[in-house]
Amino acid sequence: MTQTSPTLARPAASTGREWWRTAVIYQVYPRSFADSDGDGVGDLPGITARLDHLVELGVDAVWLSPFYTSPQADAGYDVADYTDVDPVFGTLADADAMVARAHELGLRIIVDLVPNHTSDEHAWFRAALAAGPGSPERAVYLFREGKGESGELPPTDWQSVFGGPAWERVTEPDGTPGQWYLHLFDTKQPDLDWSNPVVRERIEDVLRFWLDRGVDGFRVDVAHGLTKDPAFPDWSHPVSPLRVSEDGTRAPMWDRDDVHEIYRSWRRILDSYEGERVLVAEAWVAPAERLAAYVRPDEMHQAFNFEYLETAWSGAAVRDVVTRTAAASTEVGAPTTWVLSNHDVVRHASRLGLPAGTPRPNGISADEPQPDEALGQARARAATLLMLALPGSAYVYQGEELGLPEHTTMPADVRQDPTFARTGGAETGRDGCRVPLPWQHDAPGLGFGPSGRTWLPQPEDYARYALDVQRGTPGSTYELYRAALRLRRELVLATGDLAWVDLPSTASRAGDDVLAFTTGSDGGVLVVTVFGDEPLPLPAGAEVLLCSADLATGADGVQAVPANATAWLRA
Ligand code: GLC
Repeated sequence: MTQTSPTLARPAASTGREWWRTAVIYQVYPRSFADSDGDGVGDLPGITARLDHLVELGVDAVWLSPFYTSPQADAGYDVADYTDVDPVFGTLADADAMVARAHELGLRIIVDLVPNHTSDEHAWFRAALAAGPGSPERAVYLFREGKGESGELPPTDWQSVFGGPAWERVTEPDGTPGQWYLHLFDTKQPDLDWSNPVVRERIEDVLRFWLDRGVDGFRVDVAHGLTKDPAFPDWSHPVSPLRVSEDGTRAPMWDRDDVHEIYRSWRRILDSYEGERVLVAEAWVAPAERLAAYVRPDEMHQAFNFEYLETAWSGAAVRDVVTRTAAASTEVGAPTTWVLSNHDVVRHASRLGLPAGTPRPNGISADEPQPDEALGQARARAATLLMLALPGSAYVYQGEELGLPEHTTMPADVRQDPTFARTGGAETGRDGCRVPLPWQHDAPGLGFGPSGRTWLPQPEDYARYALDVQRGTPGSTYELYRAALRLRRELVLATGDLAWVDLPSTASRAGDDVLAFTTGSDGGVLVVTVFGDEPLPLPAGAEVLLCSADLATGADGVQAVPANATAWLRA
């Protein structure tokens, strides 16, 4: 076994301090986690009652998608009051009880902050509409005059991420057609004007409100979008995928250098609180060096590594992305994060079962090619074991511990993601990864809540994936996650020195076929993922600590890591 690449920098040790450098953070999507009152929508008391599940699973912290007052035009990412709980999710007292219970259980709580836009039903936006052009109320948002003879054309050609134009014209208080406001997402999500100090003060008050209630941090929604080019130039490129354009021009609405000052001031606020409160950037930014700027020492603590999520099933590609992204974050002293699924992408158990070369979809419908379920399951388990062995912090999206596949045959008439309607159905949307969780295989609604109602339909095969079927069942995906999380701690993988290795037996294989690295406190753990079809014979004398699939036995009687599997070995 030869080491072939320089060792990546080791994240700072974190025994009790800087917990976020190594934490496994579980994303709860409140609408779909657990329903306590039978209305078919998950809620905060439902989450509180099920926190024991997360302790048993073995995660360190929970990030909750928004549960604030909202008309739910974008499933709560359209906030009408940042400092209250939507009745569908409960009350502020329920939020306090949830935080208190989590802390009793040793779990940290990260809440979502949506600073790029509010709901159009927020009092600030209502006041802006009522006050008219030129008023301080309007200056909280991005209102502009339209182009054309009577302002009938939008101020720029920008498109909404959810499809259609990014500007909406309003009717002025006197009844005449008036100004336009910017909404990078839905029309019901007007963008705030972050060049206005009033906006900064108001959102800083929101931070303090939740910090005072004891939360451990914030996941910052669309962190790369808050500031816009004040000249508002046209941008003839699609707004999504939120990157620089092919010719290298930077977009006027994403990842501008002046956004960082906002995070520096937030960091000062967090640092003034007791304990270790954290900021996590949701920033769809490339290349890795641009993303790393968000986690410089005086800014945020972590940023989601979406490049890793988007990487194809290939050893060479994974090795490349791990090396590059870890180097970029290490350069600024931040941990790298790893993530495979969330509420915006097709679940990895289905994504990895799509034919090679399929561009990453944001949903799958019945009339599209269906994923290979068995292949997707095998690869998802392998991908997860690989991810949980990497140094740094990892994110787990609710239900992936059950190996949940995407709902890929959801009827159009129940879909709720605004992207579906705004693109006339051209984009399937993200509903398929947001289906209520199956807790109990033989209960109505698979045990999601007391009434059997679920706000999105559960596919029939979810009964097979229910927690009660998997709990205590050797070889189940749930037990694999539990074992992996326990061993990750025991073997100190999160602060391990990762070093790539070329196994002698792989010399004749294609470069993207197998990935192997050593890690752990003494470098004594060998992690091997077989991406190709050919099993990999175990190195002589290797002890298997954990494997995502049953070992194969070759004709010569030698045991092997099978295709599409990851093994953790004591070398
Ligand atoms: C983020 C959220 C996504 C939401 C969008 C607009 O990308 O993760 O769910 O639709 O921001 O707030």
